[in-house]
Amino acid sequence: MNNLLRGIRLLSQNKIEGKRVLLRVDFNVPLTEKQTVADGIRIIKSLPTIELLLKQKNKVILVSHLGRPNGREHKFSLKPVVLYLQKLLSKKHIILIEDFLSGKEKLTLQKQTANDIVLLENIRFYPGEKINDDIFAQKLSQLGTVYVNDAFGVSHRDAASVVGITRLLPSYAGLLLEKEIRAIQKLMQKPQKPVVAIIGGAKISTKIILLSKLLDVVDYLLLGGGIANAFLQNQEPEITQKILNLAKKKNVSLLLPIDTAGLENKILDIGPRTAKAFTDVISKAKTIVWNGPVGLVEDKRFAKGTNAIFRAVVNNKRAFSLVGGGDTLASVSGNKDLDKITHVSTGGGAMLELIEKGTLPGIEALRRKSA
Ligand code: 3PG
Repeated sequence: MNNLLRGIRLLSQNKIEGKRVLLRVDFNVPLTEKQTVADGIRIIKSLPTIELLLKQKNKVILVSHLGRPNGREHKFSLKPVVLYLQKLLSKKHIILIEDFLSGKEKLTLQKQTANDIVLLENIRFYPGEKINDDIFAQKLSQLGTVYVNDAFGVSHRDAASVVGITRLLPSYAGLLLEKEIRAIQKLMQKPQKPVVAIIGGAKISTKIILLSKLLDVVDYLLLGGGIANAFLQNQEPEITQKILNLAKKKNVSLLLPIDTAGLENKILDIGPRTAKAFTDVISKAKTIVWNGPVGLVEDKRFAKGTNAIFRAVVNNKRAFSLVGGGDTLASVSGNKDLDKITHVSTGGGAMLELIEKGTLPGIEALRRKSA
């Protein structure tokens, strides 16, 4: 992994002033049954960039997706996000543009005042977004004079509002995107030793590349969740053997659960002795990376292991800790000690892909246009 930020214009180092800024954010947040935001951490983490751009007298037009809609599906509307954002930025007026391609909405955009923040309705309501359609990207680009990508969580997608747009507007990396990249670089390039990785989650098949990349940098690999079950129950012997061999070759201590909790024949969490053993290893780390819950956290009875890991990570105050990826964010967010973790990534698939591939389409797109 070379210096990933080289050749990319950073918002932290370049002042954008008096522009119409098309700001790509990842407001793909979980919603409750009542269509309210269940967890707004992704929105909260976008605030520094939004606030900086407003302070520098720009007009901000937010672009985000939510879920994977099939056309204009009401349940994927960003309306709940508008309400959430409005509470966070109570002095501003958040305006939702239902369809930026319609003539009527163009007028709303022209009338945008310094006090208004515009949010476009779910960008995935348009088929051109996903296929990175040129004409669609062009129409989108006409709304702004500058583009900022602060949507780390979706930067692994080759979409119009992530990649195509960068060919059409001067493009920058936002504060959150920069922070996310720096944190992963810190882990993958000369991390302070010992390095401990805790990897959980449901399926081992989705994490083979991640595990092999991590084995290059870690000293301890602690496995939980479905991944550990694959080892314990000899479910996918080819994969598990490959990982065991690789760990041995790279001199990595691989720790599997020594006891478990569950129902009948189902393993649904690590047991208390494992939690203690994992905690001991984590307490000695100087660098920690954690991806994936180690139990079925949706069921409180089986969230104990994941909670113990969380406590161990936050209690190790001298370590650089990086937590994120998929369900991990949901399993820890809302916890009052979350700020004791050095970096909580807003990326699910994006974090994994950045570790696996060393870069992302959304990052490369910024470099191409700004080098
Ligand atoms: C995520 O939640 O990981 C991102 O918002 C990307 O969403 P996607 O997997 O639907 O592209």
